[in-house]
Amino acid sequence: MKIMSGNSNLSLARAIAGYLEVPLTDASVRRFADEEIFIEIHENVRGEDVFICQSTSYPANDNLMELLIGIDALRRASAARITAVIPYFGYARQDRKPGPRTPISAKLVANLITEAGADRVLAVDLHAGQIQGFFDIPTDNLYAAPTMAADIQARYGGQELMVVSPDVGGVVRARALAKRLDNAPLAIVDKRRDRPGESEVMNIIGDVKGRHCILIDDIVDSGGTLCNAAQALLDAGAKSVAAYITHGVLSGGAVARVDASALTELVITDTIAATDAMRDSSRIRVLTIAPLLGEAIRRIADESSVSSLFD
Ligand code: R5P
Repeated sequence: MKIMSGNSNLSLARAIAGYLEVPLTDASVRRFADEEIFIEIHENVRGEDVFICQSTSYPANDNLMELLIGIDALRRASAARITAVIPYFGYARQDRKPGPRTPISAKLVANLITEAGADRVLAVDLHAGQIQGFFDIPTDNLYAAPTMAADIQARYGGQELMVVSPDVGGVVRARALAKRLDNAPLAIVDKRRDRPGESEVMNIIGDVKGRHCILIDDIVDSGGTLCNAAQALLDAGAKSVAAYITHGVLSGGAVARVDASALTELVITDTIAATDAMRDSSRIRVLTIAPLLGEAIRRIADESSVSSLFD
């Protein structure tokens, strides 16, 4: 088995390689003067089972291109099998046509990865489970929920918990987490704008009074969804609100927004490399999912069950 990494999240790739006790494959990524990407693999990979780790996070297009070129280099170097390990799959939110004459970019990206030469894909908390079907190659979608549930039990165990989905679309994810927390009760934030131009109304479905609320979502980007949901929960009588979000995209002023919010803390995973602002934030904590990815990689290489990781 070989583990190769792009530049998007080297620390996670190193941690995965450490878990598997294999060195990272010696490869370099360089740029031409015009920013074209050039990748060179400095060791033999002929006949190897290679896992290339790259999150297609900010800068999404550069990181995606790096992944595609890395896969192409591996294919031309005669790797026996190439698994694209994409802890954060960017473009996933563009998984349907929101209106006429718009693209389904998640499908386009899936096509590009397959065409480049990937044989398999390994991702974490895809924005929608159906994205697995965008790939015509085997695709494993891992869940951060067990890692989060263990942390929630350690931090908030024994308290009157309420798992909350910040929108109607996230209910399945929230229910799965609630199940792991001894069937904690579930609430949903229902955002409504009755007429265009009117301000959004947040209705809470479920009685959150006196509860410690755990908001769960797959992505925190601008932080708007999360911070507004936290305030709405406190207004409805919640005792406190913490958030567990798999992918800390945290664009623009999101970290400042979280720092100034009503959240007691925001817990994200390391699918996306932390920025200085994230590291400096007193409200943001990072859980590693390197052991989860490492174990899934080991099982894929051994041809054993990946789904049993979540039993
Ligand atoms: C939406 O469907 C996603 O699950 C997240 O709720 C959304 O991407 C969060 O975005 P933002 O932080 O910009 O509100």
